[in-house]
Amino acid sequence: MILITLALGLTVAALLYLSMIWNFSYWRKRRVPGPKPKIFTGNYPNLYTMKRNMIYDLNDIYKEYKNKYDAVGIFSGRVPQLLVVSPELAHRVFLTNFKNFHDNELSKLTDEKSDFILSNNPFSLTGEKWKQRRADITPGLTNSRIKSVYPVTNKVCQQMTEWVKKQIRLGSREGLHAKDLTLRFTTEMVTDCVLGLSAESFSEKPTPIMAHINDLFSPNWSFVLLFALVNTFPSLGHLIKLRMVPHHVERFFVNLMGTAVKSRKSQQATGNFQRTDFLDYLLQLGEKRNLGTRHLLAHTMTFLLDGFETVAAVLSHMLLLLGRDEVVQQHLREEILPHIREGSIPYDKLNDLPYLDACLNESIRLFPPGFMTSKLCTESIELPNKDGPNFTVDKGTVIVIPHACHMMDEEYFPDPLTFKPERFMEPDAAKTFRERGIFMGFGDGPRICLGMRFAQCQIKAAIVELISQFNIKVNPKTRKDNLYDPSLFLANLNGGIWLDLEARQ
Ligand code: HEM
Ligand SMILES: *[C@@H]1O[C@H](CO)[C@@H](O)[C@H](O)[C@H]1NC(C)=O
Ligand SMILES: *[C@@H]1O[C@H](CO)[C@@H](O)[C@H](O)[C@H]1NC(C)=O
Ligand SMILES: *[C@@H]1O[C@H](CO)[C@@H](O)[C@H](O)[C@H]1NC(C)=O
Ligand SMILES: *[C@@H]1O[C@H](CO)[C@@H](O)[C@H](O)[C@H]1NC(C)=O
Repeated sequence: MILITLALGLTVAALLYLSMIWNFSYWRKRRVPGPKPKIFTGNYPNLYTMKRNMIYDLNDIYKEYKNKYDAVGIFSGRVPQLLVVSPELAHRVFLTNFKNFHDNELSKLTDEKSDFILSNNPFSLTGEKWKQRRADITPGLTNSRIKSVYPVTNKVCQQMTEWVKKQIRLGSREGLHAKDLTLRFTTEMVTDCVLGLSAESFSEKPTPIMAHINDLFSPNWSFVLLFALVNTFPSLGHLIKLRMVPHHVERFFVNLMGTAVKSRKSQQATGNFQRTDFLDYLLQLGEKRNLGTRHLLAHTMTFLLDGFETVAAVLSHMLLLLGRDEVVQQHLREEILPHIREGSIPYDKLNDLPYLDACLNESIRLFPPGFMTSKLCTESIELPNKDGPNFTVDKGTVIVIPHACHMMDEEYFPDPLTFKPERFMEPDAAKTFRERGIFMGFGDGPRICLGMRFAQCQIKAAIVELISQFNIKVNPKTRKDNLYDPSLFLANLNGGIWLDLEARQ
C-alpha cells in the first residue's frame, strides 16, 4: 500500500516536473538564442516573490544580448515569449509590421462575460471590433473638444490650489502625499469632463465616486493569483477569464452613468445648457449607434480606466523631479509666468511652451506608465536576428517590448538616470527618438494612445498652476534614487513621493 502511494506520488511529481519544463526547448528548436529558464518562474526570477520590479530582470537579459541580436527567446513561467531587444525591431512591431502584431496580450486574458468593462476597452479589443471602437472614440478626443473643456480644467486647478493651501495651514511634517493630490485632481477632472458631475475630491467629504474610482485600481488577491495561474498554465485561460473591475464597482458606475445621462438630458431640455464636453459626444454617439446605458458606460469607462491612473502617476513624478532640481524648476517658472492671464495660460499658448513640454517628456522617460508592452503575434512572420539566423514567429506568440530598457540605456540617453529636459530641446528630438524606437511614451503606430493630447493638457495645466502658486520641495522621507516599485505594472517610485509645498509671495 505504502509502495503504491509512493510510486503514485513520484509519478505525479515527475509528470508535473515534465510538464513544467516541456516547453523549454521551444526557442532552441526555432534557433532563437536566450537565457536558460528556471522551473516555475522561467526567466522572471521575481515572478512570485515580487522582490524586484520585473523590468530590472528584463534589463539584465537586455544588456547581455542587445549587441548581438534583435530578439531573444524567454519564458514567463513555462510560456514562451519573444523579448525584443533592438529598438529597430520594436519600431517594426508597432509600425512597419503592425498587421502581424495587431493586438495586445490582455485581449487573451479577459472577455465580455467575465469583465464587461475591461474587455470593451479599445486596448483589449481585437481585429475589426478594435477598429470600429477606435473610430468611435477618436472624434470624442479632438483638439477642439479638449479646448472646450479647458475652462473646467482651470476650475479644477484652482480648487487644487485652495486645497493645497489648506493642507499647508494644517501643516504635516510628513509633507503632502503626491499621489493622493494627483489622484484627487484626475478624479475631479474626469468626473466633471466625462460625466458632468463633481466628485467633490477637494472637499472634506468626497462623494463615493472617489472611493469607487480607487477600487477600480486595486485588484484583489484572487485577481493576482489567477493572473499568475493563467501565466503558468495558459490552457486554463479558456476556462478562467480575469475580472479586474469588481462587480460592485461596475454596478456603481452603471447607476452613476444613468444619473449623469438623466441630469444632462434634463439640463438640455430646459435649453440653457451648452457644453461640448465628452459626455455631450458620448450621448450623440449613443443615439447614433443606439447604445444602452451599459454600452454607453463601457465607452465612458475608457476615459476613466486609461486616463486616471496614468495621468496621476506622470503628474506626481513630474512634481518629484522638479522638486529635486531647483534650477530646472526656476527655469520652467520663468517660461510660464509671463503668459499667465487671469490665473491661467490661454489654451493655445499652453501647447506652445517648449521647456514645459520637454520637462513632461523627460518625466515620462524616467517613469513611463507603459514601461513594457505585451503584444500578440496575429499573423506569423519571418524575422532577421542580426548575428543569429532568421526565425519565424508563430501566430499566438506573446511579444514583449521592454521600453524602459531602451529609455534607461546610456547608449541612447547619456547619464540615463538623471533628469535632463534639455535632451528634448534639440529640434525634433522627440520625433527622432520615436522613429528610432527608443522612446515611445504614448506608444506608436495605429494603436498610439488615444488620450495623448487630453493627458498632456491636464498635466501641463496642473503643473502651470502648482509651479506658479508654490515652491516645490521634496520631503526627506522620499527616496533619493529612481528605483521602481517591485509590485506594479506602472513605473512608480518605490516607497511613494512626499512633497513640501510653500506658497509663493
Ligand atoms: C500620461 C498619460 C498617458 C500615457 C503615458 C499613456 C500611454 C499609453 C500607451 C503607452 C498606450 C499603448 C499604445 C500602443 O500600444 O501603441 C496607450 C493606449 C491607450 N490610451 Fe493612453 N496614456 C495616457 C493617458 C491616456 C488618457 C488620458 C486616455 C483617455 C482619455 C488614454 C486612452 C488610451 C486608449 C483608449 C488606449 C488604447 C488605444 C488602442 O489600443 O487603440 N490614455 N496609452
Ligand atoms: C508550448 O508552447 C506552445 C506555444 O505557446 C503552446 O501552444 C503549447 O501548448 C505549449 N506546450 C506545453 C506542453 O505547455
Ligand atoms: C475578488 O475578485 C473576484 C473576481 O474578480 C470576485 O469574484 C470576488 O468577489 C472579489 N473579492 C472581493 C473580496 O472583492
Ligand atoms: C514631447 O512628446 C510629444 C509626444 O510624443 C511630442 O508630440 C512633443 O513634440 C514632444 N516635445 C518635446 C519638446 O520633445
Ligand atoms: C532573412 O530575412 C531577411 C528579411 O527579413 C531577408 O532579406 C534575408 O534574405 C533572410 N536571410 C536568410 C538567410 O533567409
